[in-house]
Amino acid sequence: MRDAAPTTVYLKDYTPFGYLVDSVSLTFDLVPNATRVTARIAFRPNPEAQDRTFFLHGEGLKLIGAQIDGQDVKPELTDQGLTCDVPDGPFLWESEVEIDPANNTALEGLYMSNGMYCTQCEAEGFRKITFYPDRPDVMSTFTVRIYGDLPVMLSNGNPSDSGDGWVEWTDPWPKPAYLFALVAGDLVAHSDRFTTASGQEVDLNLWVRPGDEHKCAFGMEALKKSMRWDEEVYGREYDLDVFNIVAVDDFNMGAMENKGLNIFNSAAVLASPDTSTDGNFERIEAIIAHEYFHNWTGNRITCRDWFQLCLKEGLTVFRDSQFTSDLRSAPVKRISDVIDLRARQFPEDNGPLAHPVRPESFQEINNFYTATVYEKGAEVIGMLKRLVGDAAYAEALDLYFARHDGQACTIEDWLKVFEDVTGRDLAQFKRWYSQAGTPRVAVEERWAEGTYTLTLTQSTPPTPDQPDKAPQVIPVAVGLLGPNGDEVRETQLLELTEERQSFTFEGLAAKPVPSILRGFSAPVILDRETTTEERAFLLAHDTDPFNRWEAGRALAQHTLLDMIVNGTPPEPAYLDGIQSVLRDEALDPAYRALMLGLPGQSELAATLHERGHTPDPMAIWQAVETLRQTMAEHLQDLLPRLHAEAQVDAPYRPDAEQSGKRALGSAVLGLINRIDGGVLAAEEYGKADNMTLQLSALGALIRAGKGAGQLAAFYDQWKDDRLVIDKWFGLQVSLAEPADTVKVAVHLTRHDDFNWKNPNRFRAVLGALAMNHAGFHHESGAGYSLLADWLLRLDPVNPQTTARMCAPFQTWKRYDAKRQEMIAEQLDRIAAAPGLSRDTTEMISRIRG
Ligand code: ARG
Ligand code: ZN
Repeated sequence: MRDAAPTTVYLKDYTPFGYLVDSVSLTFDLVPNATRVTARIAFRPNPEAQDRTFFLHGEGLKLIGAQIDGQDVKPELTDQGLTCDVPDGPFLWESEVEIDPANNTALEGLYMSNGMYCTQCEAEGFRKITFYPDRPDVMSTFTVRIYGDLPVMLSNGNPSDSGDGWVEWTDPWPKPAYLFALVAGDLVAHSDRFTTASGQEVDLNLWVRPGDEHKCAFGMEALKKSMRWDEEVYGREYDLDVFNIVAVDDFNMGAMENKGLNIFNSAAVLASPDTSTDGNFERIEAIIAHEYFHNWTGNRITCRDWFQLCLKEGLTVFRDSQFTSDLRSAPVKRISDVIDLRARQFPEDNGPLAHPVRPESFQEINNFYTATVYEKGAEVIGMLKRLVGDAAYAEALDLYFARHDGQACTIEDWLKVFEDVTGRDLAQFKRWYSQAGTPRVAVEERWAEGTYTLTLTQSTPPTPDQPDKAPQVIPVAVGLLGPNGDEVRETQLLELTEERQSFTFEGLAAKPVPSILRGFSAPVILDRETTTEERAFLLAHDTDPFNRWEAGRALAQHTLLDMIVNGTPPEPAYLDGIQSVLRDEALDPAYRALMLGLPGQSELAATLHERGHTPDPMAIWQAVETLRQTMAEHLQDLLPRLHAEAQVDAPYRPDAEQSGKRALGSAVLGLINRIDGGVLAAEEYGKADNMTLQLSALGALIRAGKGAGQLAAFYDQWKDDRLVIDKWFGLQVSLAEPADTVKVAVHLTRHDDFNWKNPNRFRAVLGALAMNHAGFHHESGAGYSLLADWLLRLDPVNPQTTARMCAPFQTWKRYDAKRQEMIAEQLDRIAAAPGLSRDTTEMISRIRG
């Protein structure tokens, strides 16, 4: 469906709705092309509101009839909803509409996926189901009756009644409409039970299509662990008799926390050792936890308006990362999160799409489900916890739950509980929510007579609509090391609040080496001129595992930039430093695998650009290839030993210990591969008995140019498993050489299995294209036009996924004039398409600037 001229919504314009909703009763008569939805909604005037306009959202609904207190009414309809004259006091609104789930390709509202009915209402999809005040501050209990000829029919809450061909669900907890869900289809359950800390029994079901039963066990275990963890760590218990999770193949995002009925992209919940990698397992565990944790941070306490999205998302991401750290390795999780933040959030924060963690305006809210709102939003909570301490954090959270349960809240409410618990003024801290852009912190040091002085200077570059920034509160964790590598000052939290501030450390016997921003204590960029010797020293001695890794990463970045800009050969201090770390068998294999990683090519392009160079994607690619080859040769003698150490004898388990070994094994295979030209990879492919090993061997074979046979065999083996075939599509594009990337991608878009209307499959090919830096930015411009062609094709079908897939163009101003011109041409071509969706229009115009 195409939209009229876009309008901008502003945070400052918030007003409450004129009416409260006391109860909602819905009836669904499920028919693929003509589902009838009747709604009975008890309204009463909201004493807190001035404006009594009775406006109900509604989009794409065919109104059959409406009544107020049983009398027929004729509301005034627009393409956004309806208005109607209503009585002064309480009244009952009734309406009947017809919708067409079978033709809902946007996957928002009620739609069908493989013959199964399902919903996605966040953020504003409920208005595609019935006329309603579709805003999160309107909360109500819901009763839902579903009539249909389907074996399983689910909605929120507890089952309350049923009859021949119908079931009824009642959700006793008041909720906003975005948490509504309905699922109906031929589904089978993997079931279990959970007893809450206070003794309530909960039925747990993971509903899947017949044939997927063997992929449920892991998700169920993750759910039970999440439920226990939230009780133990946050004191939060589950609050219904049943908790349902459903796996859906066609889904725009990862998953959705609908009350008592979480709906998941099947890629984010289905797992088995044969078909899922260790990375898949870890991600699934985290997403299950994330959606479950939303029951308290999101559902019981929700958002007043969509500008407050980070209130639930930042906090819930923070909570799921704590969960993963507790279950697995905290340092490995922290490093992985920072790698991800730098890859996805930093480009956003430092480009045309930059927006505050709490945005102040939007055209399409779906465009603000971003790395900034989610991941930077979680970093902000991490900083708050660091600043107030663990005990005060726990107290503040208890107060938050006690004070705001059942409410729709704001960031002001959230910060107030911290102020009340600690007595601290958080006015300046709040700038983390209102100022966009990644702060930079420059470091100067002075050493004189036993006193070491660190001077930190902060600045945040201008971002769209925000030319000037005020200083933020930046918690900088610092430790000091003595010349022999011993720690002479333990980690201390410096609070940088001024633009420029000095911190002194007295009574030191010798000039120390500082370890700054330990644990990545704030989401900033550290500007620090330092020597290779000092980095190598920290790589060898830092007691903070994050900063030890960071020292290796800095050396890698330094040598790559030097290779690219000056044609210098790879830095021996980096190669030797990494070698020593790898030799240390006391170190977790997962940690050593991370040490073998290199900065991403897009990240290198960003750094080159920041330093005044024009990044050449081909030169970056070449430098990375050269460094990898040099590493392989330099580490050659050590590799067989590491490879042996990485072998797992026990039956497959996707836990931290085994996956760490496999991660190291895969990194080592990648290096050996450069020396033996695919011999070991072929051998490993032949004996792989799980997807992690199979995919890592297949990847190595493709890189060695020897994978054709195995690629075909892999397809034959897995052609009936759509999630594995997504990997097959993605891998070929990700690993293609720069000159072949577009050719490979085009070829795959012509494959019979390229169901481009399925978001997972679309992303497997076009997302992988955009992630292949040198291939996407190939000088021909063919990568740009291929992505644009597909965005134009997908937009009328699925605006949300199209808009998200515009993001690869956000970095365009980093590159040379020729590339900028080619990208601008594609952006303009997309913008000019008649009837372009509001979603894509907003993204393209923000990127174009
Ligand atoms: N609240 C969901 C989550 O974070 C995300 C759903 C967003 N979906 C959307 N279409 N905007 O788990
Ligand atoms: Zn979420």
